[in-house]
Amino acid sequence: MSLLPTTSIAAIAGYEGQTVSLSGWIYHKTEKGKLIFLMLRDGSATIQCVVFKKNVAEDVFAHAQHLTQESSCRITGAVRADARAPSGYELDVQDVEIVGMAHDYPISPKEHGVEFLMEHRHLWVRSAKQHALLRIRAEVIAAAQEWLNAQGFIRYDSPILTMTAAEGTTNLFGTDYFDLGRAYLAQTGQLYVESGMMSFGKVYCFGPTFRAEKSKTRRHLTEFWMIEPEVAFADHAENMVLQENFVSAIVQRVLERRGEDLKTLERDTTPLERVNPPFPRISYDDAVALVNAKYAEVEGCTPLEWGEDFGAPHETLITQQFDRPVFVERYPSAIKAFYMEPDPQRPEVALCADLLASEGYGEIIGGSQRIHDAALLETRIREHGLNVDDYRWYIDLRRYGTVPHSGFGMGIERAVAWISGTRHIRETIPFPRQLYRIYP
Ligand code: 4AD
Ligand code: MG
Repeated sequence: MSLLPTTSIAAIAGYEGQTVSLSGWIYHKTEKGKLIFLMLRDGSATIQCVVFKKNVAEDVFAHAQHLTQESSCRITGAVRADARAPSGYELDVQDVEIVGMAHDYPISPKEHGVEFLMEHRHLWVRSAKQHALLRIRAEVIAAAQEWLNAQGFIRYDSPILTMTAAEGTTNLFGTDYFDLGRAYLAQTGQLYVESGMMSFGKVYCFGPTFRAEKSKTRRHLTEFWMIEPEVAFADHAENMVLQENFVSAIVQRVLERRGEDLKTLERDTTPLERVNPPFPRISYDDAVALVNAKYAEVEGCTPLEWGEDFGAPHETLITQQFDRPVFVERYPSAIKAFYMEPDPQRPEVALCADLLASEGYGEIIGGSQRIHDAALLETRIREHGLNVDDYRWYIDLRRYGTVPHSGFGMGIERAVAWISGTRHIRETIPFPRQLYRIYP
């Protein structure tokens, strides 16, 4: 083992003029006679390492010549500031130690089709754009949790194996559960997180959720991650204020901390800089009227009858009217989940909102005030053709100290797709699960 300081490339500025040892993978190599340029990446950043034949031992130069794209190695050299280098520094190489050779790495710098890249997802995550995207994902997750923690929310984990449906029965993944019958992968943690809300006041769950979606769209995965806050004594209006503050805080933190990654992705950050509260609010009724007036402007967009749900083109059209995310509120109860509180003035609509992200991205959050009356909740469960007995515990929450309460769920992949400017959400998670993909 060398006694030289081992550092990460991201921290290289602290070692100017010193000799350091870096460990990583060869991103790119070019040879120009007596010079070899090794672009080394170590996960934190990349740096150009310059091997000059006359400065190194013969075997060291041979090692450098031998290295191929994605071979792993340890490189020792002197850190030199270079204004032209993307990182501001270069390494004048003294030693090269090969750790693991990569032979015929399948992903070359040339263009590959997305099917080929998805088939090699386990390797594709090393590429610059994927790396930037997944870093933004990690930042979004950290920002979301830390913001909620700072607001006094308690993380309250919900189970993944559940007995019941919460978001419709047509997209459940089922499995046999010993002698107890069928169990289903959670579509949401919401029902469980509501029990935590009655214990802690403000809680959130965060975890994978599952929907056997038969849709093959750019916005649907069968396994996605959702963060779901739930607040006691909060009504529908307060729920939207919480959401606009939450989303703005996440976007601003990504702008502050992941500027380099947004640049790698060529994301125009101007629309993101506008993401500050308050967000506009539009009723479902007005949104339908808007669609019917302007549907011809968006490809694939059709007129709507009151009571129909929006498709992706409708959401695109709605978001195009605003310069920041927009809430569409008070949807017809008939097209929403059983647990939503009806509007007391108009019981045919629910006290709910979807938050549609700008620039055509569409829904990233679904939320609502919840029914807090036990009898009404039971009626709704029956009307939805669900077995009341399975929801005994959930109805209990309304029997023992019920309170008005509200919450929402933000899909991490949809949020990351929007913030990073990535059209398809399949690239916003390390291993997307889709109707036609479970490998790798
Ligand atoms: O609107 P949804 O279905 O709402 C719920 O599940 C509520 N229980 C949330 C709550 O109030 N606690 O889903 C919420 C969000 C959507 O807005 C979207 O961002 C994401 O989850 N989502 C999906 N993301 C990827 N693929 C899918 N198939 C998704 N379905 C929903
Ligand atoms: Mg929804």
